[in-house]
Amino acid sequence: MIRKVKGTRDILPPESRLWVEVEAVANRIFGGFGYEEIRLPLLEPTELFVRSVGEDTDIVSKEMYTFADRKGRSLTLRPEGTAGVARAYIENGLGQRPMPLRVSYLGPMFRYEKMQRGRYRQFAQIGIELIGAATPQADVEVLLVLHSFLTELGFDDLVIVVNNLGDPEDRPRFIEGFKNELEPHRAELCADCQRRWDANPLRILDCKVERCRELVADTTPVAEVVSEEARAHVEAVENGLASLEIPVQRSPRLVRGIDYYLRTVFEVVSPKLGENTVICGGGRYDRLISDLGGSQVPATGFAIGEDRLIEVLPEPFRRRVLDRPTVAVLPIGEKANSAALAIARLLVRQGISAQTEVTDRSLKAGFKWAGKIGAQAAVILGEDEIAAGSAIVRDLQRGEQETVALEEVPGYVERLIASDSET
Ligand code: HAM
Repeated sequence: MIRKVKGTRDILPPESRLWVEVEAVANRIFGGFGYEEIRLPLLEPTELFVRSVGEDTDIVSKEMYTFADRKGRSLTLRPEGTAGVARAYIENGLGQRPMPLRVSYLGPMFRYEKMQRGRYRQFAQIGIELIGAATPQADVEVLLVLHSFLTELGFDDLVIVVNNLGDPEDRPRFIEGFKNELEPHRAELCADCQRRWDANPLRILDCKVERCRELVADTTPVAEVVSEEARAHVEAVENGLASLEIPVQRSPRLVRGIDYYLRTVFEVVSPKLGENTVICGGGRYDRLISDLGGSQVPATGFAIGEDRLIEVLPEPFRRRVLDRPTVAVLPIGEKANSAALAIARLLVRQGISAQTEVTDRSLKAGFKWAGKIGAQAAVILGEDEIAAGSAIVRDLQRGEQETVALEEVPGYVERLIASDSET
């Protein structure tokens, strides 16, 4: 037997319905705020991620699926979506469109990570990017869209944490103090952090090694070493959120594991999954597009881990999606086969899900099958019914049945399903 690649998942029905529904809600809410889907390649030149996510990040240094194509070009399966959006923005001249540009995306990302619950090597993200607005109001909008989406799914226990990373100009000052504080323990840092010490000390802050985390915990948080403008920016974001009654918590240690961020950064955690399992991450990245060769365009956005989101979906949403009613259409005898499919067509046109018995089972076996697929009603069609232009509709929960004129079957079934779900 050939097995799936480690870290990838088969998402089977009916679980897959949750994915379809979550994505439909995302498209509706994001679309409502003006964010339209951008569909980008899964394959990008490796250099794109090295220059955006950053050479010394875990993602680029350890987790990318990178390979040479047949012509020897280095390609990478995208580990995240923001870099691709920035590339597409520059390459397609999207700066010519009315600004700001609002785009959304969803789809698979790839990171070679150690497998555990909620951490996969192929996982899906749902995200938005707002490009061309430097204001705190833009960050507030992005968080409002996030909050609206999560609320629509029925979440009420998720926590949004924010922090201020300051501007790139603030970094040398921060790094100097940070290194001074850490110097006495420098030798205790892991081998990766030894390398980061000179190459990119900010990345020591998100090292996952226990000892490094302990050492870093005692240093001055980055938010305390930011310019007046950066401080005012993130405070304005917090005030904007407060006036929209969107609760957020300050987390001075939050740094995020990607190089392109500045000023506002945020994450969403679920009490159900614990603090270390982040459902969503995002923030402002005003220098990314220019660093990749485009013009100076500020931007902000987020990406939700869809796999993790689905693991903690509120029960009412899950039930509503998974308990979707269906109808079994059971023909008796060969002559009824096409008529049964015609009834299914009629039902589906009315928005009622209907599955037809197509395996020539006996009626008794057909009822058994209808039970197994969880059908709420069965529509039974024999030669007599066809001749009379009618069908028998059986309520499988109550065990009652009635003969109904064909054209009235959809309406009848609809009422039956509605009354069953009330009881
Ligand atoms: P990120 O924090 O690297 O940010 O990823 C966003 C989310 O993707 C995480 O919060 C997590 O839920 C999910 N995720 C990441 N790795 C895995 C994994 N191995 N298995 C399952 N889920 C995972 C970004 O990717 C940024 N591009 C977000 C962003 C958009 N910033 C601005 N705009």
